[in-house]
Amino acid sequence: MKTAAWPVKSGSGFRIRKLTISPPLLLAPMAGLTHSAFRTILMRLGGVGLLSTEMLSARTLPSENSSISPFLLRTREEYPLSYQLLIADKNQLAPAIDRLHQLGADAIDLNLGCPAPRVRKFGGGSKLADDPHRLQQLVAEARRLTALPLTAKIRLGETLNEERLYNFCRLLEGEGIDLLTVHARLRKEPFCRKPRWQWVGKVKKWLTIPVIANGGVFSVDDGRRCLEISGADGLMLGRGAIICPWLFHEAAKALYDCDLPELDIDRPSLYFSFIDLLEERFRPERRLGRLKEFTHYFSRNYPFGLHLAMAVQNSKSITEARERALTFFAGKS
Ligand SMILES: Cc1cc2nc3c(=O)[nH]c(=O)nc-3n(C[C@H](O)[C@H](O)[C@H](O)COP(=O)(O)O)c2cc1C
Repeated sequence: MKTAAWPVKSGSGFRIRKLTISPPLLLAPMAGLTHSAFRTILMRLGGVGLLSTEMLSARTLPSENSSISPFLLRTREEYPLSYQLLIADKNQLAPAIDRLHQLGADAIDLNLGCPAPRVRKFGGGSKLADDPHRLQQLVAEARRLTALPLTAKIRLGETLNEERLYNFCRLLEGEGIDLLTVHARLRKEPFCRKPRWQWVGKVKKWLTIPVIANGGVFSVDDGRRCLEISGADGLMLGRGAIICPWLFHEAAKALYDCDLPELDIDRPSLYFSFIDLLEERFRPERRLGRLKEFTHYFSRNYPFGLHLAMAVQNSKSITEARERALTFFAGKS
C-alpha cells in the first residue's frame, strides 16, 4: 500500500479500498484549472490527500492522446490522482473505465452534480439524479467494471428535499460508491451563494462511507467551521486552492496536525513556476488559456490584482503575459 509522504496524526485520514487518503483534503475537479501543471505545484507545496483531473468526457476519453492531451498529461509526482468522468450513456462506461485503468488512475469519480445546461442536455452531470433507475444502472455498471475506489460528486439537488436527497445518497452507497463528495449548494445556486454545510451533515449521518464537504472553503478558518458544522470526514478545496495553492499545506497543518516543513511563500516565484510548468508540459496553443484561467483566481491575492488579471487576459502570447506579470509584481514588491 502506498501512503502519503508526510507523517500524519492517526485518524487524520482514511482508506478506501487500497487507497489511503491522508490528510483528508481533496482537490476539487475544475475544468481548465486542475491539470498537470497546477497539480504539480500543489504536490510541491504539500498537504493534498487526493488530486483530481477536471471532468473528462467518457465519450471522447478513449480516443484522447495521453502524451499530448492537456486533460490526460500526468507525471509520477501527481499521486494519488482521481480521474473524474462525465458520463451520460451506460455504453460509454466500459471503454472509458478501461482507458482509466491503462492510464493508472488511482480512483474514479463520477460527476453527478454538474449543472451546466450543455451537460444536462446530453443527460449527464446533475441530470442523472432526475432518473434514479438510469442512475442505478450506470453506477452498478461502473462498480462492476472497476476494482478501483469509485467515488461520486453531487450537489444537494433541485430544491431542499430531504427525502429525495436521502434516497439519492443511499442509492449511491447501495451501488458500491466508496466515498461521496457533497458540494453544498442546490443545482441552480451560484458559487457566490453561502454553502449549506449543515446539509452535508445530514448526508454524513445517513451514510457509512466517507463523506467529503465541498464549497466555500477559502481559508483554514472556513475549513474548520465547515468540518464542525458538517461533521464531514474531510474537505474538498476548489477555488480557494487556486487563489492560494498553499491552502492545502496550511489546512493539513492546522486541521490535521500534519508535520510539513515551514513554507516561505514567494507568490511571484510560484506564479512563474506555474508558467514554467505550462511551457514544459503543454503544447504552445494549450498554455495561454490555462494561464488566464489560473490568473483570474490567483490575482485575488493582491489588492490591485484586477490589473494583473486584465494584463494577462489581454496578452496575445505567454511571453507577453510573463512580461506583463513581471511588471505587475515589480510594482508590488
Ligand atoms: C472553473 C470551474 C470549473 C469547474 N469544473 C468542475 C468539473 O470539471 N467537475 C466538477 O465536478 N465540478 C467542477 N467545478 C465545481 C468545483 O469542483 C466545486 O464543486 C465548486 O467550485 C465549489 O467548491 P469551491 O467553493 O471550493 O470552489 C468547477 C468549478 C469552477 C469554478
